[in-house]
Amino acid sequence: MSDAPRILALAGSLRAGSYNRRVLAVAADGARAAGADVTGIDLRDFPLPVYDADLESASGLSAAALALKERFRAAEGLLIASPEYNAAISGTLKNVLDWVSRPAPGEKPLACFKGKVAALCSASTGALGGIRGLASVRVVLGNLGVVLLPDQVALPKAAEAFDADGNVADPARRKSLMELGAALARATRALRSPS
Ligand SMILES: Cc1cc2nc3c(=O)[nH]c(=O)nc-3n(C[C@H](O)[C@H](O)[C@H](O)COP(=O)(O)O)c2cc1C
Repeated sequence: MSDAPRILALAGSLRAGSYNRRVLAVAADGARAAGADVTGIDLRDFPLPVYDADLESASGLSAAALALKERFRAAEGLLIASPEYNAAISGTLKNVLDWVSRPAPGEKPLACFKGKVAALCSASTGALGGIRGLASVRVVLGNLGVVLLPDQVALPKAAEAFDADGNVADPARRKSLMELGAALARATRALRSPS
């Protein structure tokens, strides 16, 4: 089996033209170039209702929630691009983290998160690039036992930041995103528990 660090990449937006999905793709390329095995998922493939404890009590975890949990469990590192909604984490991403944090029967608490390493990026149509939203993503993931890299990349003015092919137009910003992915690959390998 390959010893490449296993990284799960996801963007906290369901929007077809999501800018966060685009910056995620660049950072994921950086992680791959640094030797990581990156699995990208699209949250539109895992439809989840807004978390409701009564629903969980009545029906347990849905097939989509269990499938998402499996992706998280299998990963050693998390690469997350999060939109900023009202200066905080997007409802979509928070809802996903809430569902994934619920234990499956017999599962250890926080099995999908504890000891994993994460790197964060964002894109926003605003001037701050979504950086305020990343602060709340850090709070949520830190509380779940995830080790967060201090580096992060926020792409401002996203509506004007991509070229006609959908690539990040500014080479410096593109390099920062690639380096973020590479740093996550290195940190995931370095912090791996000895087997
Ligand atoms: C409900 C809502 C709240 C938003 N709040 C902020 C905000 O606080 N700061 C910001 O920079 N952008 C904000 N935006 C703009 C988003 O950053 C922008 O729509 C972005 O493109 C969303 O990410 P996506 O392209 O990946 O879907 C908000 C958008 C929505 C729909």
